[in-house]
Amino acid sequence: MRRAGKIAAAARALAGEMVAPGVTTREIDKEVHKFILSQGAKPTFLGYSGYPASVCISVNETVIHGIPGPRVIREGDIVSIDVGATKDGYVGDCAATFVAGSCDEDSKKLIEVTRQSFFEGIKFARPGYRVSDISHAVQTYAEENGFSVVREFVGHGVGREMHEGPEVPNYGKPGHGPRLTAGMTIAVEPMINAGVAGVKILDDGWTVVTRDGKRSAHYENTILITNGDPVILTTEE
Ligand code: MF3
Ligand code: CO
Repeated sequence: MRRAGKIAAAARALAGEMVAPGVTTREIDKEVHKFILSQGAKPTFLGYSGYPASVCISVNETVIHGIPGPRVIREGDIVSIDVGATKDGYVGDCAATFVAGSCDEDSKKLIEVTRQSFFEGIKFARPGYRVSDISHAVQTYAEENGFSVVREFVGHGVGREMHEGPEVPNYGKPGHGPRLTAGMTIAVEPMINAGVAGVKILDDGWTVVTRDGKRSAHYENTILITNGDPVILTTEE
């Protein structure tokens, strides 16, 4: 899990460095695909339920599952990169939102609050708490900052498969769901909208966009529950 996480995190960083005005999302996917293979790993997403690429690249009002293609990234766009790597049978899954050039203050705040909501959530990622304690902390922080939480997609257990139990929602009352125990590996992944929480799926069957067309951000890491602090596995260190 550590090796898979390290590769996924490096792939996310590589993609993030490529986010710039004039670059197409397909170019990013191509480079990340090559990188993952060069590490002796497999791009987890490619072929997953028929998904046609190695990375999900979701620009502005796209929440998640944006399919790489000819779209040219423009100055001020915010670009969510989600990538998975499978190494020796184990999966690392992570995401983050990057800015092309410089963006408006509201978008900066959206990205920062989304990232921080993950860290607020994982304060409860330890034995003695339940899954929904993480969920509640993410929701509270995001909403206190004036944003809304996507309900239709959730975090998840991750291990030999990308999607294992339990589901890890980004909303809910505390004190519910499975108890967290040392050794569990889960992906915590807030998807936070600037406007309404509602989303819709485009006709390609994948692309998830906000109902109101306002922007959305995403942040995800695969973490390990321990008897002490949680360990982020999708890190380059
Ligand atoms: N990181 C996403 C998730 O946690 C990626 C799945 S996209 C797919 O579910 F393309 F692989 F389906
Ligand atoms: Co995930």
